[in-house]
Amino acid sequence: MSIPRHIAIVMDGNGRWAQRRHLPRKLGHREGQKAVRATVEHCRQRGVESLTLFAFSSENWSRPDEEVGALMQLFVKALDSEVDELHRNGVRLNFVGDLERFDAELATRMRAAMARTAGNTALRLNIAVNYGGRWDISQAARTLAAAALRGEVAIEAIDEDLLGRHTCLAEQAPVDLFIRTGGEVRVSNFLLWQIAYAELYFSPVLWPDFDAAALDAAIDTFARRERRYGQTSAQVRATG
Ligand code: IPE
Ligand code: IPE
Ligand code: MG
Repeated sequence: MSIPRHIAIVMDGNGRWAQRRHLPRKLGHREGQKAVRATVEHCRQRGVESLTLFAFSSENWSRPDEEVGALMQLFVKALDSEVDELHRNGVRLNFVGDLERFDAELATRMRAAMARTAGNTALRLNIAVNYGGRWDISQAARTLAAAALRGEVAIEAIDEDLLGRHTCLAEQAPVDLFIRTGGEVRVSNFLLWQIAYAELYFSPVLWPDFDAAALDAAIDTFARRERRYGQTSAQVRATG
């Protein structure tokens, strides 16, 4: 069976999970952390190489201050409580997004967790924070423009391949499977460049309820898809 090498997930539905129980939304985010743990462990066991989780979008700053504050506190606590275990399990942590907007202490802790786990090889866990797909493409363009101004890159050399190599996650396997939980059928400015040929899967399950069986259902669906990359079905079957 074909296992996706790289899975990306929009972990949506925490707020509704809590509201249905007449609980404050922040308790939904806390419960979501358990689903993160289970998903990481299951991906590791199934031999997925990279898992990219959307934890906080560049647009999420516009939520009420109280909710943004609760999410920041949760990130700090999670860094304290989860990194040891991830490190023991051989997980390499990578935060993607514009870390400059976070308070200096939180950004320092994120960088320390990345440095500490940099030698691990069991699973690459990318956490997208203050991430936006449009930001990602524009930061790649800015980097190349600066290199061109310095005379290090010729304008004619700027093509899809070179721009892609300056977007986040470029050194990892391409995203094979894009999952969004919580029932909404949109991308919400998560990976844009990187999902050009990903298989999309939308689940009605709210993120805190997403478990190993729900992930297996997504992987099974992925394995049944025919990825044609522009070819015909007959061509794909002929070349295997
Ligand atoms: C996703 O859950 C988590 C974050 C955006 C941080 P939501 O908080 O968006 O949950 P819903 O969509 O309101 O249920
Ligand atoms: C996307 O979910 C961001 C994360 C899951 C971190 P949102 O709940 O913010 O997306 P919209 O606002 O419904 O599009
Ligand atoms: Mg949401």
